[in-house]
Amino acid sequence: MQASPTIVAQLTDPHIPPPGRLLAGRIDTPRMLAAAVSHVRALEPLPDLVVVSGDLTDTGHPEEYLHLAELLEPLDLSLVLLPGNHDDPTALAEVFGRPEGAADAAIGWQQVVEVGPLRVVTLDTRVPGEPGGRLGPDRLAWLEEALGRSSAPTIVALHHPPFASGIQHMDGMALADADALGEVIERHRHVVRLITGHLHRNITLGWRGTVVTTCPSTAHQVALDLTGGPARWRREPPAVHLHVWLPHTATLVTHTSPIGDHGPAEPFTWTADSPT
Ligand SMILES: [Fe+2]
Repeated sequence: MQASPTIVAQLTDPHIPPPGRLLAGRIDTPRMLAAAVSHVRALEPLPDLVVVSGDLTDTGHPEEYLHLAELLEPLDLSLVLLPGNHDDPTALAEVFGRPEGAADAAIGWQQVVEVGPLRVVTLDTRVPGEPGGRLGPDRLAWLEEALGRSSAPTIVALHHPPFASGIQHMDGMALADADALGEVIERHRHVVRLITGHLHRNITLGWRGTVVTTCPSTAHQVALDLTGGPARWRREPPAVHLHVWLPHTATLVTHTSPIGDHGPAEPFTWTADSPT
């Protein structure tokens, strides 16, 4: 019998408004996050950790974090939150408290979490008042030190992607100092994955000696537009990512699990005369 996998579930960009409101008056992001939470609770096996990778709320108001806490409460699993450009870490800390093992508040909302044989290192890419992200020398120095402390396979979680997606209006608000981050990552070959939010899409690429995956939002998705058109969104299927560490092959495999009712899993019992 193979040893059990270690599973890190990623939810991202729920954009929770105050209670009783829809996002932009049109998108029921609280109902969609509740569906994501039910989806994760129904997984077998349950994840060992859940990471929510930023844009937790829509405007960073304390009332929105209280609403978020209410919606996440049924998860009842180890939970790691990180801020995105729509968040306010002060209001986040007021409701959730500062995380254990977090960096000094002056550095930002950064922490190291041990989960079985894995480590998850979270980064704060937020620049107050700006949609784009930047780490800066202090947060990068913290990362260098955190990655140097252990050679355990490590997932680095951050909100802003360090790559260009081809969706131009989003690439204008990516991570400004991605090259500096890449230099740190290349020095630590035990970084098995970077996981990000912000793009509201399912994207994978090889980057600086590792792999980056970007998770779809639990709510609305950014429209796939490679023509350089204006910012648009779509009601494409929301999903969660499951980052699964397989001990027998020592690899991290990322699965996309679409949220919603897709019917039961059925056995492959086709015969030659089954309908196609
Ligand atoms: Fe977002």
